[in-house]
Amino acid sequence: MEPKAAGMLYEGKAKIVYATDDPDLVLVFFKDDATAFDGKKRAEIPDKGRCNNLISACLFEVLEQAGVPTHFVDVAGPRQMVVRRLEMIPLEVVVRNVAAGSLVRRLGLEEGRELDPPVIELYYKNDALGDPMVNRHHVRALGAAEPGEIDEMERLALRVNQVLRPFLAERGLKLVDFKLEFGRAGGRIVLGDEISPDTCRFRDIETGEILDKDRFRRDLGGVIDAYREVLRRLVGDEALPGDDAR
Ligand code: TMP
Ligand code: ASP
Repeated sequence: MEPKAAGMLYEGKAKIVYATDDPDLVLVFFKDDATAFDGKKRAEIPDKGRCNNLISACLFEVLEQAGVPTHFVDVAGPRQMVVRRLEMIPLEVVVRNVAAGSLVRRLGLEEGRELDPPVIELYYKNDALGDPMVNRHHVRALGAAEPGEIDEMERLALRVNQVLRPFLAERGLKLVDFKLEFGRAGGRIVLGDEISPDTCRFRDIETGEILDKDRFRRDLGGVIDAYREVLRRLVGDEALPGDDAR
């Protein structure tokens, strides 16, 4: 499918969404821009957009096959995918299998500690407020989602974890934690956004090597090599960058 991009609908920090001539479909373009700490830290990482597009496409397909409704329709080029248009819910749903990042800072838990059962957190997507953590009561007060919708997002988020953990483990990747965003379409809650090293913590299962955006957040270097390695483990050597990658 090759929908014609008609006009820009929305530009975020890492993606641009374009209308297509089908009102139910939009085109998502993955930028090479990286940001962290509410956009205070910025850089361009050549080839990141392609990696995130292809990694997300692969993981959305795995989830669809497992019965998780996602917005993914088709890859439409190295850096873009066609997705179903959703009415986005302004929440970030984080699932954590291992203590890391803000959980360690907030609760003083030891980094690397296994969390069983996994921890689910909700954040209100609002750049001006710095995406504050919220609970179900806050979500209702904000009018962001109904209680039944929150239940469904949490159920789907745990299901995503259940499906992706073994899939990634077979490819030598430990899924430490990840962030999801959902929307509404046809009366259902559908998984949207992306699932990539920008939005997940992936570690090498043997060595613990960091293979995600923490390399950028923490100035560890080797950012694009890590993203390419995740892509290579998911789809094989065909993932090597082509002429149009840059
Ligand atoms: P955190 O430990 O910084 O709260 O991050 C938890 C997970 O959520 C981690 O996999 C990175 C992801 N994440 C995003 O995708 N977007 C964000 O804005 C933040 C803060 C985290
Ligand atoms: N994506 C967020 C930002 O741009 C934060 C992060 O991923 O660390 O600020």
